[in-house]
Amino acid sequence: MDFSRADFPDGFLFGAATAAYQIEGHGFGGAGSTHWDTFAATPGNVVRAENGSLACDHYHRYETDLDLLKDAGLDAYRFSTSWARVMPDGKTVNPEGLDFYDRLTDAILARGLQPFQTLYHWELPSALADQGGWMNRDTALRFGDYVEAITDKIGSRMASIATINEPWCVSYLSHFLGHHAPGLRDIRATARAMHHINLAHGEAMTRLRAQGMKNCGIVLNFEYAQAASNSADDLAAAATQDALYNKWFIQGVTQGSYPKEALSGLEPHMPANWQDDMTTISQPIDFLGVNYYTRNIIAHDPTAAWPHQKSIVGPLDKTQMGWEIYPQGLHHFLTRAARDYVGDLPIFVSENGMAWDDHVENGAIHDPARQQFITDHMNATKDAIADGANVQGFFYWSLLDNFEWAFGYEKRFGMVHVDFETLQRTPKTSYYALKSALSRV
Ligand code: FCB
Repeated sequence: MDFSRADFPDGFLFGAATAAYQIEGHGFGGAGSTHWDTFAATPGNVVRAENGSLACDHYHRYETDLDLLKDAGLDAYRFSTSWARVMPDGKTVNPEGLDFYDRLTDAILARGLQPFQTLYHWELPSALADQGGWMNRDTALRFGDYVEAITDKIGSRMASIATINEPWCVSYLSHFLGHHAPGLRDIRATARAMHHINLAHGEAMTRLRAQGMKNCGIVLNFEYAQAASNSADDLAAAATQDALYNKWFIQGVTQGSYPKEALSGLEPHMPANWQDDMTTISQPIDFLGVNYYTRNIIAHDPTAAWPHQKSIVGPLDKTQMGWEIYPQGLHHFLTRAARDYVGDLPIFVSENGMAWDDHVENGAIHDPARQQFITDHMNATKDAIADGANVQGFFYWSLLDNFEWAFGYEKRFGMVHVDFETLQRTPKTSYYALKSALSRV
């Protein structure tokens, strides 16, 4: 890979990311049912009806997995703690769950790695889904109770705490497009979820501050919204998409308002008195996490209901997900975040990576496309720093092949290959290439 530590500012952190439900093995340790378990148990939602009950068995193999991270020469580990493991019924603490994260934290620190925790990476306890999940304002407040319990146990040892991972996926992808749990396609549910997930962030910030936590922020995902043509209709459709995906959450969290292009369709469906929550939502954060993967080409579609749009397949090279490879988009969002929203606040690339149809051949996995992908996105990050964005770290998604949500175990994002029959871990060529880039002086 064509970069080294010397290309980045002193103290820049290189890391890898994972998420609890995708790797731990949710069947262990007294964790409660989540809306992902029930979504996966419903025909047609997840490839081969797979779920996270065993996943990578990280619950039992975390020491080995952390060794892999350390041996790659990485500095930091972004992981998430599971609400349904800590509170199986959404309200009662499971001591076994807290103990697991206590052991995990110690193991991260013992290796000299910096722990970057995410509090919600999507496994909502089913008991709360029964009460409307993110459509229900109360879920945001219950989230605060979980935040308090887990923070009390491990918070003071965290280098960084993010409230929510990718609120766009939690709300729009899951309640409007129906691709993720709970699999709804309803604009009223969407508007409520898009607001309540922001409120959950605000509520978490309030609780974290009350417990004296610093280094608290949020992880947002961004996708470059490219208009299919220069026609006024296509440009307007792309601007609406940009507002729904790339502005709603960051503008809510940093400025306490929502973009007008998005409100134009959502306002009639918003919960009553939503404006009263904007102060809680927009309290100061300490960092912003940026997840970035691809761009989307948007055309106006007069036959569709609001937001009157459709996606067009683009011409660029694609990953195993069918996502176009567009590193310029990462530069765009890092510089735009600094310029329009967070100024000098630290920014982290909290996820970036690609899925590939990796195969083990003679005990090795050759993934040159992934090496190129990482190099190109590292260079985009470096350029964004040169252009004024205070980017302080880069986390590859993901350390391990894992449960890729609706795609089950079919899509492989790891630097380390996992054989899901034997659970054997085998580092891919990209793992060794990254290790050698990081050790270069
Ligand atoms: C992000 C998610 C992560 C993983 C990657 C590929 O949207 O945060 O869990 O699924 O995409």
